[in-house]
Amino acid sequence: MIARSEKQDLDDEAALQLDAKGNLRHLLTLKGLDQSLLTEILDDAEHYLTEPGSLPARSQSLAGRTIANLFFEPSTRTRASFDLAGKRLGADVLNLDVNTSSRKKGESILDTIYTLEAMQVDVMVVRDASAGVPAYIARNVLDHVSILNAGEADTSHPTQGLLDLLTIRQHKGDFENLTVAIVGDIRHSRVAMSACHGLATLGVGELRLISPPALAPDSESVPGASIVDNLDEGLDGADVVMALRIQRERIGNLDGIPGIDEYFANYGISQERLKIAAPDVIIMHPGPMNRGIEIESVVADGSNSVVTQQVTNGVAVRMAVLDRVGQTMASR
Ligand code: CP
Repeated sequence: MIARSEKQDLDDEAALQLDAKGNLRHLLTLKGLDQSLLTEILDDAEHYLTEPGSLPARSQSLAGRTIANLFFEPSTRTRASFDLAGKRLGADVLNLDVNTSSRKKGESILDTIYTLEAMQVDVMVVRDASAGVPAYIARNVLDHVSILNAGEADTSHPTQGLLDLLTIRQHKGDFENLTVAIVGDIRHSRVAMSACHGLATLGVGELRLISPPALAPDSESVPGASIVDNLDEGLDGADVVMALRIQRERIGNLDGIPGIDEYFANYGISQERLKIAAPDVIIMHPGPMNRGIEIESVVADGSNSVVTQQVTNGVAVRMAVLDRVGQTMASR
């Protein structure tokens, strides 16, 4: 939406995220955030985890603050977890129903944002199908307002990246000796892009991106990763396997994209295909899952699956991020 090179936009977004004191003000991308900041956020998130069956962690650190969830694309996990995270930190949370909002009557995104600012909203959580929207909003809000990217086109989903890093760290500890395999529609996946950025910053040993050629990323967008089109080659010895769905809503021309049966036969994560991975491999999926297409049900629900743990971690990570930008506001 802004006529500049993609690299320039990404570099600008990375710089936009920190205030003059180096504190996190917006979260737009994991690219450009350093290892110590990512590690601190993961450490903070650990404090918001409690045992299954016990009461969830709560604090009043955001009491008096107001958070607005603006989801211009569908969501179950991200929207619900930002809602819970804000409430568990004591904030007022507004879930704007975009289908009945005035954007449907032609109001511009910035007029919607200015309207919410006038109601003293402090944090806006934004999901949008167009690249550049969260950064565009961040450049135009009042100095005290924070923008959190909740999923942007095929470019970035930073809180998903953080919850994926946390889940891997819980099971595997250090990243240096790990082989991580991400399988599926890498080209159109904001989840894959944020995982690549975060894993690279935390020093992952080996990152393999496995997909049919038509769904492979441009190599310059994933420096340091190997691009592989053979599933067995990609899964061989992998410690972590992350399956992704085909993002049909982002693919204009389906030529070259395998049909369901062909896709599952060649790229589906099944018990049989996983025999080549490390015995203690963990299986991840960001959701929503298409069982029988990118992942076999018995794998999704099996003992190596950490899919529900990813969801639990999503609330904790979003609490950590909200608390951090709240501290930045309070320090102004
Ligand atoms: N992983 C993820 O972003 O899921 P939702 O689309 O349900 O938020």
